Amino acid sequence: MGLEHQPREQWGSRLGFMLAALGSAVGLGNIWRFSYVAGESGGAAFIFIYLLFIVAIGIPIIMAEFTIGRRAQLDVVGSFQKLAPGKPWVLAGILGVASAFIILSFYGVIGGWSIYYFLQYIGGGPPVEGAEASADFFVNFHTSPLFPIFWQLLFMTITVGIVYAGVKKGIEKSNKILMPLLAVLVIILAGYSMTLEGAQEALTFLFSPDWSALTDPSVYFAALSQAFFSLSLGMGALITYGSYLSKKEKLPGAAVGVATMDSMFAIVAGLMIFPAVFTFSIAPDSGPGLVFITLPDIFGSMSLGLIYGLIFFFLLSAAAVSSGVSLLEVAVAYFMRRLGWTRKKTAIFIGSIIFLLGIPSSLGLGTWSGVSLIGGRDIFDSMDFLASYIFLPVGGMIIALFVGWGWNKSEVLEASNFGQSAIGTIWIWLLRIFAPLAILLVFLYSVGLFTF
Ligand code: PHE
Repeated sequence: MGLEHQPREQWGSRLGFMLAALGSAVGLGNIWRFSYVAGESGGAAFIFIYLLFIVAIGIPIIMAEFTIGRRAQLDVVGSFQKLAPGKPWVLAGILGVASAFIILSFYGVIGGWSIYYFLQYIGGGPPVEGAEASADFFVNFHTSPLFPIFWQLLFMTITVGIVYAGVKKGIEKSNKILMPLLAVLVIILAGYSMTLEGAQEALTFLFSPDWSALTDPSVYFAALSQAFFSLSLGMGALITYGSYLSKKEKLPGAAVGVATMDSMFAIVAGLMIFPAVFTFSIAPDSGPGLVFITLPDIFGSMSLGLIYGLIFFFLLSAAAVSSGVSLLEVAVAYFMRRLGWTRKKTAIFIGSIIFLLGIPSSLGLGTWSGVSLIGGRDIFDSMDFLASYIFLPVGGMIIALFVGWGWNKSEVLEASNFGQSAIGTIWIWLLRIFAPLAILLVFLYSVGLFTF
């Protein structure tokens, strides 16, 4: 199949592209994953390292992905084949498509939970009073074999629907509406949270680091994988989105903008969640259930709890859909070209396969909880571990090395819009040496944590 036999779709505007990239970045990672990982990793010291990784590794690799995609105007595999024909760099593209399948399979499970909780709040809130009832409610729901799968199917159907509608009419349009709305909602909720009694304790937890945590290798590993996951980095989502951008638009501002907004979103989400967590004396390290067990419990005892819950789970579901869309688009863009199929047919077909792949993750949290795959992790955690801890950082490392070493330097600088500037040279060196080395060191430092 030729690489360029179909006319490619394009974003309507640079703003549309930025909002779509932001929609990909802002998702369950910023709210559900960030809050429980920060909670488990001790708060401020983790956040400090996380932000450092975003600036020194994240932003340069976002720029690398945008540059590759925009230059090649092709999907993640095709991009490498076009820019470096016959070279092994295409491995990053293949890993990227594999990551899209793996991440969206378990992402859809949590997306489905969010929609279920949102609908519960529309119907007057889940019937819970007290932490125990809240936990029971959650456990009964997510361990039931069929029920969560139904909600995962609904999540996947919405996601497929948006990808089906196309780059401009589906992805760009939905993000143009959702992103500003989410920003307003998260700020309102955080503002309200800051009036709660636990606000002071939350601020200390989030912003005053206990530096002794930095001797723990798992903090670096968690921060690195969280940075990749949250920025949608290392698997070509941003290559794919960049490939729909016209050559006229400038890239560097967009990369910095997306990274800044995504990090702010996570921090504001922290300001929304942790004051409530501390007000009601809940352990911040309660794990993946933090958002689904503790928050409904908290909402149940707040005067505005019903509205708060409704807005919160709407926020979570909508953010999850816009990220799910970008995951699906990576695979759809690739298979559309490979198989020569229409967007509509590919979206439905690939979406269905990913839905089926997600079923074991969902069951792994309930009926199949006895099954362990990677180092004693259940199916769900194994998928997250494989994708977020291994595929994304490794993919990101290959992308950095490709742009740093595998591609002609003056061509890269021109394609990135940096031109022959000092900042362009710094960027190239961050990609050549710093980012790959930092990723490698975090891996080596954490070797003891790998228990396969
Ligand atoms: N960045 C998304 C989030 O934070 C998840 C994601 C990862 C999306 C990788 C696309 C690619 O929820």
